Amino acid sequence: MTGPPAVRMRGVRKRFLDVVANDGIDFDLHPGEVCALLGENGAGKTTLMNILFGLLPPDAGTLEVWGEPVTLRSPREAIARGIGMVHQHFTLVPPHTVLENIVVGTLEVDPDAPVWQLSVGEQQRVEIVKALYRGARILILDEPTAVLTPPEARGLFKALRSLAAEGRAVVFISHKLREVMEVTDRVVVLRGGRVVATRQTAATDPQELARLMVGREVHTPVRRPRPAAGAPVLEVEELVVDNDRGLTAVERVSFAVHAGEIFGLAGVSGNGQGELAEAIFGLRRARRGRIRVGDAALTNRPAAEVVARRVARIPEDRIGVGLLMELSLAENLILETYRDPRFRRGPFFLASAVAGFADRLLADYRVRAPHRAVPAKTLSGGNLQKLLLARALAREPVLLVAHQPTRGLDVAATEEVHARLLELRERGVAVLLISEDLDEILALSDRIGVLYEGRLMGVVPAEEARVEELGLLMAGVGPEGPRA
Ligand SMILES: Nc1ncnc2c1ncn2[C@@H]1O[C@H](COP(=O)(O)OP(=O)(O)OP(=O)(O)O)[C@@H](O)[C@H]1O
Ligand SMILES: [Mg+2]
Repeated sequence: MTGPPAVRMRGVRKRFLDVVANDGIDFDLHPGEVCALLGENGAGKTTLMNILFGLLPPDAGTLEVWGEPVTLRSPREAIARGIGMVHQHFTLVPPHTVLENIVVGTLEVDPDAPVWQLSVGEQQRVEIVKALYRGARILILDEPTAVLTPPEARGLFKALRSLAAEGRAVVFISHKLREVMEVTDRVVVLRGGRVVATRQTAATDPQELARLMVGREVHTPVRRPRPAAGAPVLEVEELVVDNDRGLTAVERVSFAVHAGEIFGLAGVSGNGQGELAEAIFGLRRARRGRIRVGDAALTNRPAAEVVARRVARIPEDRIGVGLLMELSLAENLILETYRDPRFRRGPFFLASAVAGFADRLLADYRVRAPHRAVPAKTLSGGNLQKLLLARALAREPVLLVAHQPTRGLDVAATEEVHARLLELRERGVAVLLISEDLDEILALSDRIGVLYEGRLMGVVPAEEARVEELGLLMAGVGPEGPRA
């Protein structure tokens, strides 16, 4: 390779209190390549890229951009050097128009649309175009496909390949090994804040990458064939729910989830999944229709009553509604059960009971954290998700509504969550799995429905489901062609 690398980082170190997030990392990025940065949750990927983007000062180490030694004190300085970043939890300013957000007309989105009207995939494209518009020759994408549909992800990959062909350099962070194999040239694997391996993508495979990340073999949990379906646990009938703007978000949806069954609800987010889950959970009014759990009619009943019926959920928005980021891990774990007699004597908390409960869950679910007393905000994305899952399952639910339960989780954590869901199914729990990840839906579900624009586009047994068909249904293309 001639000329200097686009990026050369040497000996980069960063610690947060007693967590060493980057422990002496050497990282090169070359023009013309898409390079994957892989690693388990908490391995240090986002930290390293935040340093490259001028968001965090390293404690030690050097950085060269196109051969020139630089110190980046802010994202503004990074942008001036041609570095662009699309963040893991990316944010556009919702009330502004797309045009105000980027000022460019080359998008496949309507530039006059307010951002809240765009699908998450379209917002993602806006973010990428925004970075490029600012002149980025080095582009960092932190889990960009966590929110994309399969066709959208393919579109993104094509764009990344052509950017690389123009001589730009791309860092691609993803936990989806299939995507890494498809779009990248080279893979750098981090574990515990260090580089443990570098591979040419063509010379490796997903099994090896998983092993390198985790440090041991990773096995996909097997779904055993379902015994005869149990009794219906959740019954949804002709349900109609409005969204925040008073428009119909769920349109006469009917389905049942049985004991010992995983019912997979596929669909691009924004097609009514959130409103449906909230209605089931008593957090949003149903305009019409009925919801039952077991023998209890729960339509428009308060959330506390739903919880009392042993309905648990893993909410989609873990930071917005799932967890209180300023509170400790232990406090978050007892958030829904703090009135439980095992934690209290009269008005007093039994500190030791809470501590024991929290420590057991943190260990059981392998939440990577120094102590139960640290605030939730210090955990990496994947570990936050494990915390939520631990809390939901500790309540021994009869029905679990799992909304994007593995978004942002690494390979090992994803397999753990999948194994847990399958275990619940074997124990006779009814699971409603809402996910945009078709691989996940296909791997776990007994029956699959697709939600598109608030309607349920048919329900099929998993054995008969084909990924291409489901992908088309998710995009609103039914057997009769695109819907108007
Ligand atoms: N602001 C912070 N304060 C304290 N600890 C932090 C902070 N930011 C990151 N950490 C810790 O540093 C480690 C690395 O986190 P980082 O976000 O870089 O991981 P990651 O590889 O991006 O993980 P994920 O795949 O979950 O996004 C984690 O243990 C995390 O808890
Ligand atoms: Mg990260």
